[in-house]
Amino acid sequence: MDTAGDKVVGSLGMHGTENILELTDITKIFSMGTVDEVTALDNLNLKVKPGEYITIIGSNGAGKTTLLNVVAGTYPPERGRVIIQGDDVTNFSEYRRAKYIGRVHQDPKVGTGANLTIEENMAFASLRGQRRTLRRAINEKRKRYFRDLLIPLGLGLEERLRTMVGTLSSGQRQSIAVTMATMTEPVLLLLDEHTANLDPKTAQTVFDLTEMIIQREKLTTLMITHNMECALRYGNRLIMMHRGKIIVDIDGERKSKLKINDLVSAFEQAAGEKLADESILLSRCEM
Ligand SMILES: Nc1ncnc2c1ncn2[C@@H]1O[C@H](COP(=O)(O)OP(=O)(O)OP(=O)(O)O)[C@@H](O)[C@H]1O
Ligand SMILES: [Mg+2]
Repeated sequence: MDTAGDKVVGSLGMHGTENILELTDITKIFSMGTVDEVTALDNLNLKVKPGEYITIIGSNGAGKTTLLNVVAGTYPPERGRVIIQGDDVTNFSEYRRAKYIGRVHQDPKVGTGANLTIEENMAFASLRGQRRTLRRAINEKRKRYFRDLLIPLGLGLEERLRTMVGTLSSGQRQSIAVTMATMTEPVLLLLDEHTANLDPKTAQTVFDLTEMIIQREKLTTLMITHNMECALRYGNRLIMMHRGKIIVDIDGERKSKLKINDLVSAFEQAAGEKLADESILLSRCEM
C-alpha cells in the first residue's frame, strides 16, 4: 500500500470516522533517573473526532498542561505516538506542527509579542506554517481582514492596528491572542485556562469571544479548566485526568445530563480515593 493509503487507514477511528487527533500509549517522564522523576503522562490514550469540544479537568499536577504540550510538540513524549489528521507528527517540532494548531496559554504575554503592533502580531499569526514574509503579510487587503476580525471583539482594537501590544490591557491582549490562535482555522484549538489570569468581567468577555469562535468555526477544541462547573457547562465531551491518566471520559447526552455529584462519584470510583483538590469543586463557574 502507498503512504497516502496508510495515512487514511491511520486516521480511521473505531467507528470508521476520521479522527482529528490520536494519542497512543503516551508516556511523558520528567527528570528521568533522578529523585525528582515524575511520570506526568502515564500510558495515555485519546481519540478526538472532528467537532469535539473537550473540557479537561483535574487537580494540580494531574498532567493537563503536559498533555497539551505533547500535542503541540513543545517536547516529545518518552513513549507513544501523536497523530494529527492522519499524519504521524510525533517527531515534528512545535514549529512544524504549527499549521495544525492554534493555542492560547494562561498568560496573555505568551501568545502575543509585546514589542510588535497589533497588525504585526496578526500578520505573524496569519503566516503560521507558511513561508511568506511579514512585509507581504501586511497590505491594505489584509489590514481590512484584520479589522474585520477585531470588530466582533467590541474593544475598538480595529482602530488601533498600529498600537504596540505590550501597551494593551491583559483582557485586550488575550482577546487578540484568541483571535490570532483561531484566524488560520486550526485543525485543533488548545486552550489552557486561558481566562484564569483575568478579572471576572474580562474573563467573561474573553470566554464569550472564544465560545463564539469555536461555535462559528466548529473548531475541534481541547480546553483545560480548573472548574468542574465550567467543564460541565461547556463543550460536548469531558475528560478528567488524575496522575497522568484519563480516568473519566464522558460525551454526548450523558455529558449534558451530568451533575457535579456524578462527576465526583466517577472520580472517586476511578481513582479509588477522595477528591483532595477542593478548588475544582467549590469554585463557581463565573462564565
Ligand atoms: N518542565 C517540567 N519539568 C519537570 N517537571 C514537570 C515539568 N512540567 C510538568 N512537570 C511535572 O509534571 C506533572 C504534571 O504537570 P502539569 O503541569 O501537566 O499539571 P497540570 O495538570 O497542568 O496542573 P495545574 O492544574 O497545576 O496546571 C507535575 O508533577 C509537574 O510538577
Ligand atoms: Mg496546567
